[in-house]
Amino acid sequence: MNVRNRFPIFRSKVYMNSCSQGALSVDVRRAYEDYMCDLEQRGSPWELWVQKNEAVRNAFATLVNAGAGEVAVETSTSAAISSVASALDFSGPRNKVVVSDFEFPTAGQIWHAQEARGAKITHVPAAGNIIPLERFEEAIDERTKLVQITHVCYRNGSKLDVKAITEIAHRKGALVLVDAYQSLGTTPIDVKAWNVDFLAGGVLKYLLASPGLAFLYARKDLISTLNPTNVGWFAQANIFAMDIYAHAPAPTARRFESGTPPVPNLYAGLAGMKLLQSVGVDRIEAHVSEITGAIKEGAMRRGFNVVTPIEPSKHGAMIALRSHMDHMLVKRLEEDNIILSCRDNNLRISPHFYNNLEDVDRLMDGLTKHKDLLV
Ligand SMILES: Cc1ncc(COP(=O)(O)O)c(C=O)c1O
Repeated sequence: MNVRNRFPIFRSKVYMNSCSQGALSVDVRRAYEDYMCDLEQRGSPWELWVQKNEAVRNAFATLVNAGAGEVAVETSTSAAISSVASALDFSGPRNKVVVSDFEFPTAGQIWHAQEARGAKITHVPAAGNIIPLERFEEAIDERTKLVQITHVCYRNGSKLDVKAITEIAHRKGALVLVDAYQSLGTTPIDVKAWNVDFLAGGVLKYLLASPGLAFLYARKDLISTLNPTNVGWFAQANIFAMDIYAHAPAPTARRFESGTPPVPNLYAGLAGMKLLQSVGVDRIEAHVSEITGAIKEGAMRRGFNVVTPIEPSKHGAMIALRSHMDHMLVKRLEEDNIILSCRDNNLRISPHFYNNLEDVDRLMDGLTKHKDLLV
């Protein structure tokens, strides 16, 4: 795609590690410089920064087809999930939280931390590289308060059927929280079509920006029924009430926020999302699908062990290969200017719109060179 030249890293490297960190564009670099300039020249332009915070809220809302009032600007996905957890009451019979085995560890950790508040956690086990719907059917029951599912698994790229799992959960009276961090920016997401209750994600990966900026979507009609206790002055109905004697939560999803927004990251996040939207998420999905298709085909032809489900509808923008020496392999490839990452003996290859078929050829050459490190 012709935006590739906006990412200087491609002058020297094959970069396919977007599941960890999106490549730096000249746009995001300039956004950080703009922040520095504003600081240097204007001091503390809070009015501008508040506008940027609202622009980020709107950009997140547009990305997932939510209303701006349904979006809280957060500093991490963990903060977003914790904020939801803090709003739930586990003292009654509906105290169960169902967590898929494909979750990023932070989800398991946050929900297990709620055991001190009465929550009972049930994990939904994988069957190889998928989690069959029947397993959710079995795990979710009338005692389930919330089901946490990742859209795409950070370890193997496997994609869960969010709509079908949400239908199961809602039929049994449970809420659904989706972690979309590994899919945001690579495929169109529509919280209304999915009918999910919460969705969280951040800008570090396929949204092309930096650590320190994330968001929570909370379904409109739920907001007034939930009172998070992980809060702060930015969660107040009137941020500048400065009332030390009361907590008056915002009527919108802002009640899930806490303190001062991460201002430098607002600049970067806006630049990253603008660039992404200029390409268009539909086009990105088609392009990424072509690249992941070529990676699967090339890997299988060479006899590498693809641990991602092969069917295109069952995986995200990541193809994982089994490797018994995954850290060593990542290091060796890096020496050859191919940047990937690994988790749990899986080599993660995660292309984005900036990758092309030439990258795939160079990747295949690198993998062939080090095939003794692949199983
Ligand atoms: C699917 C998924 N969820 C959550 C996280 C963690 O997000 P944060 O550090 O913003 O809490 C990651 C980070 O890699 C992830 O891949």
